[in-house]
Amino acid sequence: MSRHAVITGAGSGIGRQVAKRFAGLGYRLTLVDIDAGSLASTAGACREAGAEDAHALVVDLAAPSGPEEMLTEAWETAAVDVLVNSAGIYPATPFLSLDADTWDAVQNLNTRAPLLATVALARRAIDAGRGASVVNISSGAALRARPGAAPYSTSKAALEMATRASALELGQYGIRVNAVAPGFVTVNSSANPVTEEYATAVSGNPLGRRGEPDDIARAVVWLAGGEAEWITGETLRVDGGSSAGAMNLPLHWATNKAAPDAAAI
Ligand SMILES: NC(=O)c1ccc[n+]([C@@H]2O[C@H](COP(=O)([O-])OP(=O)(O)OC[C@H]3O[C@@H](n4cnc5c(N)ncnc54)[C@H](O)[C@@H]3O)[C@@H](O)[C@H]2O)c1
Repeated sequence: MSRHAVITGAGSGIGRQVAKRFAGLGYRLTLVDIDAGSLASTAGACREAGAEDAHALVVDLAAPSGPEEMLTEAWETAAVDVLVNSAGIYPATPFLSLDADTWDAVQNLNTRAPLLATVALARRAIDAGRGASVVNISSGAALRARPGAAPYSTSKAALEMATRASALELGQYGIRVNAVAPGFVTVNSSANPVTEEYATAVSGNPLGRRGEPDDIARAVVWLAGGEAEWITGETLRVDGGSSAGAMNLPLHWATNKAAPDAAAI
């Protein structure tokens, strides 16, 4: 039987492209989202791309019981080999407008849901004597604060620690837990709209182009699979180099001594 991947946030953006990549490898898929319409469209695209099966499951993962409900339904169709936690929200939240409801909504979906989904998968995999592989979708915001993103940045920083904590306790069972942290990726999302002004400001990086969902999907598939069998607890930054350092600063030589002659280097 084909390997079985569960992908959250599969209706749109990064999750949708991750689903299509696994489909191309002939996986059986359980595709999870809160939006039934976009999920049906992804399921159709995955069947066309070669998925053995693409089961669409509408679940609110921000609800306390959502992750357990998802794993119960997915495991009934077949044992799960791969879980990709991509569902996430990144609402613009000016710091002085922050309230408990906004905070809870972001943490519940972005951090609690991936952690509880990993617990739900691990319990079943351990009972069945099977290994498994989890990839959480983090963000460059986990390391770099930005205006209006205090709940979001905090949720992703916590998710990276949850990734390490899960890996530490689950390695003995052959269950790997890793994360991919994308830089800015163009997704045209209705759940997470961003202005062009913001996109331009945030998307500078050494490789000089914006990220596409497939840049992230290829990394997720690699990290989830056997080629990465000795990697766990890791966060792979897939961001065109934007986390490598600060772009657009003047040369510091200019302030204290002459810059080397470029032609002589
Ligand atoms: N696009 C980027 O630039 C970028 C950068 C870094 C990290 N990320 C992360 O990548 C992940 C995917 O984001 P995206 O940009 O593809 O966004 P997206 O809006 O295209 O996809 C997110 C999906 O999650 C679903 N969703 C929202 N609330 C849900 C809920 N309660 N239960 C189940 N599903 C729900 C949405 O319906 C949507 O289909 C997120 O975790 C995000 O934080 C995105």
